[in-house]
Amino acid sequence: MNPPDPGDRSIAVTQNGWSVSVLDQRQLPWRVERIELTSVAMAAQAIREMWIRGAPLIGATAAYGLCLALREDSSDASLERNVALLLATRPTAVNLRWALERIRAAVQPHAGAARVAAAYRCAAAICDDEVRGNRAIGQHGLELIRGAAKPGRTVNVLTHCNAGALATVGLGTALAPIYRAHESGIPVHVWVDETRPRNQGALLTAYELGRAGVEHTVITDNAGGLLMQRGEVDMCLVGADCVTRNGDVCNKIGTYLKALAARDNGVPFYVAFPSSTFAPALASGRDIIVEERDPAEVTSISGLTPTGELATVNITRARAVNPAFDITPARLVSAYLTERGVAGSPQALGIQFELLSQQPLNQSSL
Ligand code: MRU
Repeated sequence: MNPPDPGDRSIAVTQNGWSVSVLDQRQLPWRVERIELTSVAMAAQAIREMWIRGAPLIGATAAYGLCLALREDSSDASLERNVALLLATRPTAVNLRWALERIRAAVQPHAGAARVAAAYRCAAAICDDEVRGNRAIGQHGLELIRGAAKPGRTVNVLTHCNAGALATVGLGTALAPIYRAHESGIPVHVWVDETRPRNQGALLTAYELGRAGVEHTVITDNAGGLLMQRGEVDMCLVGADCVTRNGDVCNKIGTYLKALAARDNGVPFYVAFPSSTFAPALASGRDIIVEERDPAEVTSISGLTPTGELATVNITRARAVNPAFDITPARLVSAYLTERGVAGSPQALGIQFELLSQQPLNQSSL
């Protein structure tokens, strides 16, 4: 499977050269609809209300959101105001801050129309880098899957949430190696955690695996442990919203429990992410802000009625809390998979940032 054409990507500049088209993920898999983002306010709403989601795509959408803001007002005040607006949309995925800082650095030397043009060039470069990076992650991860393949047997991979083309700009992170394995003729089957409360697995991962012709089965979030005990999972492969300096991994709520079950059953637990998800300024998972979302996401569930309407029903009257992410300690991660390769720690992959050399590494885990 090749990366989607720019026109099919989860995010793309439209033909007018300035507005931005995104896939409306709230409608999938029932309807495939795109929305045209024409203002920074719309871009911020799209991120906040999860019309789009997934750490790399959040970063790319924020980047273009800043372009839209600068197109309306390219002043320094507008730059700072809109960086703050976009930063406040979702707190956990570090790609958001990373993308905004990259655009800010690119536009600061310029003014007026040149500043706007520089912003769009930088946003396009962010997207192109993600596409290339996803392809490289796919290639490195392919070797892991190949290593697990045995003659006459299907490789069973368990994944959580959606870390595929819909969450990124290219092939995806955790799903990229699966697409490459499928394309290479390795028999692969994916256990797809439904991923309550928003069901990104059942709705989005299953949708995109199905489109690519990859064999998959949706399971409840609680089924993975049993499947691992039965020897029906060869590896877990998940994405990440933030990886801290000591290798702790923040990902969709439920990931940690899979990592615990994987360790207990001797199943390798791999985390795939682009360098833009690495946060060397955060020493460990304790420094991550975990997004708390609306409890209504827990107390209700949405789906398609027999008459084809999208509907939401309540499943309880009780009080609920809704932490959106959890932290998997580095000690439970078998290997990290980025565009640079596969390694036992992010540092070993050569993801070097100034902060790494300025501060001692904190190897403690949660
Ligand atoms: O809340 P979401 O849907 O934005 O969370 C997404 C995830 O947790 C993904 O697994 C993660 O961002 C990796 S995306 C390549």
